[in-house]
Amino acid sequence: MDNPNLRKEVDSRRTFAIISHPDAGKTTITEQLLLFGGAIRQAGTVKGKKTGNFAKSDWMEIEKQRGISVTSSVMQFDYDDKRVNILDTPGHEDFSEDTYRTLMAVDSAVMVIDSAKGIEAQTKKLFQVVKRRGIPIFTFINKLDRDGREPLELLEELEDLLQIESYPMNWPIGMGKGLEGLYDIYNERIELYRPENYGGERLIPLDQAGEIPADHPFRGSGQYEQVLEEVELVKEAGDSFDRKKIANGEQTPVFFGSALTNFGVQTFLETFLEFAPSPYAHKTQSGDEVSPYEPEFSGFVFKIQANMNPAHRDRIAFVRICSGTFERGMDITLERTGKKMKLSNVTQFMADARENIQEAVAGDIIGVYDTGNYQIGDTLYEGKLKVAYEELPSFTPELFMKVQAKNVMKQKSFHKGIQQLVQEGAIQMYRTYLTDEYVIGAVGQLQFEVFQYRMKNEYNAEVVMTPMGHKIARWIDPEQLDEKMGSSRNILARDRFDQPLFLFENQFAERWFADKYPDVKLKSLM
Ligand code: G4P
Repeated sequence: MDNPNLRKEVDSRRTFAIISHPDAGKTTITEQLLLFGGAIRQAGTVKGKKTGNFAKSDWMEIEKQRGISVTSSVMQFDYDDKRVNILDTPGHEDFSEDTYRTLMAVDSAVMVIDSAKGIEAQTKKLFQVVKRRGIPIFTFINKLDRDGREPLELLEELEDLLQIESYPMNWPIGMGKGLEGLYDIYNERIELYRPENYGGERLIPLDQAGEIPADHPFRGSGQYEQVLEEVELVKEAGDSFDRKKIANGEQTPVFFGSALTNFGVQTFLETFLEFAPSPYAHKTQSGDEVSPYEPEFSGFVFKIQANMNPAHRDRIAFVRICSGTFERGMDITLERTGKKMKLSNVTQFMADARENIQEAVAGDIIGVYDTGNYQIGDTLYEGKLKVAYEELPSFTPELFMKVQAKNVMKQKSFHKGIQQLVQEGAIQMYRTYLTDEYVIGAVGQLQFEVFQYRMKNEYNAEVVMTPMGHKIARWIDPEQLDEKMGSSRNILARDRFDQPLFLFENQFAERWFADKYPDVKLKSLM
């Protein structure tokens, strides 16, 4: 059964996402990684923010052929003997449930933090989703070339705000204008920021560090001595390096660096690839696990990207391969419907588009051209043995809109559209208890725009949306529900499974409710 070639391929995969708050430097570090992997030739190719569309690259033709931006969603490259898949988690206005769901398809995560700002709101949210999965989380504290907060303070914040142990893999020697290098605790060496000042060597073994001329800035200023003290302190008082905790996401290895000046990034990449896990077994609904080395192909849909270009109504279903090998034209079964299909029109995210023959195995992502067959969470499998992967979690929406059909004559298409888009996972839908109005919920504004656009273009149903703003959605046990509990500050609604919930105006309203009904337990989704 076991195929050594497949095992070798699977073991070489490293599939991860970078999580961060906007502007922490995710794009910049992604670019540096792609440069190291030879996937792009110059910096500035990934970034598309300024032009208003998604990231671009110079190596994928598929985008031009299809007129759909898929390239930036998955970026693949080879480094050493590893094949690396970076899954994009859009921030800013593009933030949506897809961003969260992408985190269900990775084997580890890298958290990028701005050294001057520390942990910011979006980082915290994304972190919590990753933490629940119990997968390894690596931290890169960025922008060391600028004045930022003290390293110790940043580590403390990690532990306090995120409740995760941290282990510094390196320690900055100075920062901002005074940045001289990194004391690389893990690799026992010094990494110099301006090696040209020291005779050209970038990496200096610790035992030779004393030979750096005493008149050199970091020695002369006493910086180095201070760093030695700090490192001693964290070694003694801090948590010890623990591979098992790292593997379970209970401890995060922390790297300092500067993505913009490409300082500390290569060391980070190499150390990360050493510790980041290869694909592991995935749980099925029956509680079994499917090994990634299982020769028969299987995978699940974690994201569906609808085309916003009116000339192209196609969609791409992103499939995380969980076992076996993907082959173009292979026959698979869609578990939900039992329908047999051919996987022929498929995008592979290759390190280099010029090589046509690439194997996609467990850990890799394929983009399946979809005309409406797939839903988020669907399992695809090869062979006779049925596989159904665990359902993807639903995420608590934060933004809400009341929605109705613009044209009352179009009620039928309106209902059909809403129902299908809700099923597909594009948006969440609720009905108010008393007035039975439609309310849609999302985690990011873009979801509403996509919804409105698709309702019009795919279902011929124009919608009118009335913003309700931010709300805190909390579910209540139907047994405990009394309709009188609802008010304008906590609107009572039901979800599409008929489960009751409140949409609280803000935290005060939630607290007020908790005080008034101390016995009522409220729940959020993930
Ligand atoms: P994001 O994807 O997380 O949103 O962040 P991005 O990489 O776009 O970086 C946000 C800003 O921070 C950019 O500047 C970028 O150049 C800068 N930056 C990233 N890494 C570093 C670093 O290590 N040091 C310093 N000093 N700056 C860094 P911008 O002015 O907003 O954009 P741009 O005009 O440079 O494109």
